[in-house]
Amino acid sequence: MTKYEAGDMIDGRYEIIKGLGKGGMATVYKALDLITKTFVAIKVMAPDIVVKEAGQERFDVEKESFAKLWDNQYTVKLFDVLQHGAEWFIVLECVEGGTLKDKIKDYGAMTLTEIKNYFIPLCDALQSAHNLQIVHRDIKPDNILLTPAGVVKLGDFGISIMPGYESEAEKAIGTPRYMAPEVLMKMRATPKSDIYSLGIVLYECAVGVAPFIAQDQHMIAKKHIVEKPTPPRQINSSVSQGLENIILKMIEKDPEYRFKNMNEIKIALTNLKSNDNSKPYFYQSRLNNWTNIPSNNKVKIGNTYENLPLTSKTKFTAIFSILFLALILVFVVVLLVL
Ligand SMILES: Nc1ncnc2c1ncn2[C@@H]1O[C@H](COP(=O)(O)OP(=O)(O)OP(=O)(O)O)[C@@H](O)[C@H]1O
Ligand SMILES: [Mg+2]
Repeated sequence: MTKYEAGDMIDGRYEIIKGLGKGGMATVYKALDLITKTFVAIKVMAPDIVVKEAGQERFDVEKESFAKLWDNQYTVKLFDVLQHGAEWFIVLECVEGGTLKDKIKDYGAMTLTEIKNYFIPLCDALQSAHNLQIVHRDIKPDNILLTPAGVVKLGDFGISIMPGYESEAEKAIGTPRYMAPEVLMKMRATPKSDIYSLGIVLYECAVGVAPFIAQDQHMIAKKHIVEKPTPPRQINSSVSQGLENIILKMIEKDPEYRFKNMNEIKIALTNLKSNDNSKPYFYQSRLNNWTNIPSNNKVKIGNTYENLPLTSKTKFTAIFSILFLALILVFVVVLLVL
């Protein structure tokens, strides 16, 4: 892929100003549109996406998602799409206030006012996507952009799911730190999976750190599936009980126990007061309603397969078997000694 420098031209119309960011799928540049005399962001797709079999589909899904969500004020606007040979570009509204990831890195945990300011619009953007049967599938702080005035703009629909595009819809693709347990277990992502991922981002913003972290991606995946999150108030006592309750309900393991949709969360967040007297939420932490857990008990992240963690039932059987064997061993030793 061409690495663009300041002054380079794309399609005789866009003059590169500087790099804005880089992700796993693309590099994004700020450019001047010489026709409209406005600044735009140009997403240049990475060569490994362009040559990939599913690359064209990812490109199409992303541009169509942005186009369909044009009316939503909290989604990055699409201006143009260019595809010449191996050069694929998506021309977008330039959102230059950094990302939510930068905000968390620079300032740590957020106040309730900041949380409402970011998350109510995000619910709005995601509800609009879900109404169009688009599942974002990659909700994370790096994909939530901010204008210099602090308005959120949801970006990066590169791995979203939409009707008619099926080649990667069933795959466990995403960023493990924010992926829902069902997606990690190779079930199709649904709007409830976006609710889970947004809940993880909300947890991180309220507390300053995500709930399931480990050095190894597979360990993170296992934590999403079996580990109970530490209640946010135990880490940051200034989180209100009401906010903690919303977060925990968003990150229930079983999609059935989560909020029904983004609108419900938007209402709950809007009604939040800083000093509320809500009762603590009872976190279910169960996978009761899951019927189609893959029988091979393995999850695929990237290119490697990993055994899933033991469920509490199999854990109990394993512990019981070890104790039983130990008892027999003791019995045999005692017999031999006598
Ligand atoms: N419209 C935009 N305006 C300004 N900066 C942007 C814009 N779109 C993306 N960026 C910056 O570029 C980075 C990468 O963009 P994006 O997330 O779309 O690429 P990606 O390769 O699909 O990422 P991922 O690694 O999440 O798959 C963002 O995190 C952000 O910093
Ligand atoms: Mg991204």
